[in-house]
Amino acid sequence: MKKLKIGVIGVGGMGSAHCNSVKNLEETELVFVSDIDENVAKKKGEELGVKYFTDYKEAIKSGLAEGVIIATPHWFHPEIAVFAFENGLHVLSEKPIAVKVSDADKMIEAAKKSGKIFTIMFQRRTEPIFMKAIEIAKSGALGEIHKTVCIDPWYRTQAYYNSGGWRATWKGEGGGVLINQAPHTIDLFTCIGGLPKKIYAKTRTKMHDIEVEDEVSAFLEYENGSWGYYYTSTCEPVGPLHMEFTGNKGKLVIRGDTLTFYSFEYPLKESIEKVESMWGSLKYTEEKIEITSNIQRGHSAIIRNFARAVLYGEKLIVNGEEGLNSVEFINACILSGKKDKSVEIPVDRKEYDQLMEELKKSSKPKKVVKEERITDPSFAKK
Ligand SMILES: NC(=O)c1ccc[n+]([C@@H]2O[C@H](COP(=O)([O-])OP(=O)(O)OC[C@H]3O[C@@H](n4cnc5c(N)ncnc54)[C@H](O)[C@@H]3O)[C@@H](O)[C@H]2O)c1
Repeated sequence: MKKLKIGVIGVGGMGSAHCNSVKNLEETELVFVSDIDENVAKKKGEELGVKYFTDYKEAIKSGLAEGVIIATPHWFHPEIAVFAFENGLHVLSEKPIAVKVSDADKMIEAAKKSGKIFTIMFQRRTEPIFMKAIEIAKSGALGEIHKTVCIDPWYRTQAYYNSGGWRATWKGEGGGVLINQAPHTIDLFTCIGGLPKKIYAKTRTKMHDIEVEDEVSAFLEYENGSWGYYYTSTCEPVGPLHMEFTGNKGKLVIRGDTLTFYSFEYPLKESIEKVESMWGSLKYTEEKIEITSNIQRGHSAIIRNFARAVLYGEKLIVNGEEGLNSVEFINACILSGKKDKSVEIPVDRKEYDQLMEELKKSSKPKKVVKEERITDPSFAKK
C-alpha cells in the first residue's frame, strides 16, 4: 500500500501521540521528528528510529517528507505551515490554526497558492454525535435558526498551567481557555449554528494564577438578527458540554453523549401568530437520536483522512479554511472582553494585531514552571 511520508514538528505531549499514530496507520510513514528543544527531538528521533531536527526549516527542506503535522505551541503554527506550503508540502495543523485572524489569513492564502492539502486536527468532527448534528443542521430540518446556546465547561489545575512556560501567557499562547481548550467546541458550534456577526463578551481570570482568561461569557448576534449565548471556563469541574439550536421548524439539543431533536408540528413563527387559544401550545415530537457507528474516530482518523486525501483524493473531514471561523470567534471574544465593546466579525485585523502586541508586551515570565509534556489521556482517546 502507498504511504504518505510524514514529519511531525513539535514532539511534546500531542506531537508524540501523533508520531505513534503515524507509525501505526497503514497509510502513513513517519520520516522525521523536529523540535526546538534538542533533547526532546533527539530522544524522540532515537526512540522512533527516525531522523531528528531542531530547525523546522531544515526538516521541511530535507526532502524526506511529503506532508507535515504541526504540533508546536499555537503561535508557530502559521509560520511553519506557510513555510511548508511554500516548499511544496501538505499540512495538518494542530488547533487552533493560528492565534490571530491575520495569521490564519496568511496560512489559508499560502495553502491556496500551493494547491497542497490543508487540514486541521479538529478530531471531534469525527465523533458520530457531532457528525449527525451537523448533518441535521445542514439538511434544513431546523429551519431558520433563531437561538443558540453553548456551555462548554472545562477543569484545569494550576499544575496544568505550570507545566509549560508558554502555557496561559499572552506571549507564549496568546490566550487562555478560548485559544486552548475551546477551539474544538467553537468549531462544532459554528459548524452547526453558523458564525455570529457580532459578539459582546466578558472575559476574566477567575481562579488561576495566570495572565490570560479562564472564564468567558458572551452574547452573540447573528446576521439574521438571532441571538445566542456562549460560556466557557476552566473552573467548571462538572459537565457535560451543552449546546442547543432552536430553529423555526425544530430544536436540536446536544448534552454530553445525547443528541435530541424536537420536531415542531407547525413552524414556530406561524404557530405563534395563528394559534387562537390564549393558552395554546406548540406540539412537538421528541426523538433521542441513536448514535451507532463503528467508524474510526479521534486524532488518528484525522491523520488517516489527511493521508488518504493526498494519496487518493478522499474528501477532507476538515477543510483548512474552516479553521478561520473559530479564530474569528475567539479573537472577537478576547477583543470584546479587553475593550468592553461589541466586536463585529470579520474581526478588524489591524486592531487585533495591535491588541496582541500590547498584550505580549505586558506578558511576564511565569513564576513557577514544572515542565511536563504529557497530553490529556482522556481527551487523546476521543
Ligand atoms: N487536538 C487535540 O486534542 C490537542 C490536545 C492537546 C494539544 N493540542 C495542540 O497541540 C499543540 C501543542 O500542545 P502540547 O500540549 O503538545 O504542548 P507541549 O508543550 O507538550 O509540546 C509542544 C512542543 O513543541 C516544541 N516547540 C516549541 N516551539 C517550537 C518550534 N518553533 N519548532 C519546533 N518545536 C517547537 C516544544 O519544545 C514542545 O516539545 C498546541 O497547539 C495545542 O493546542 C491539541
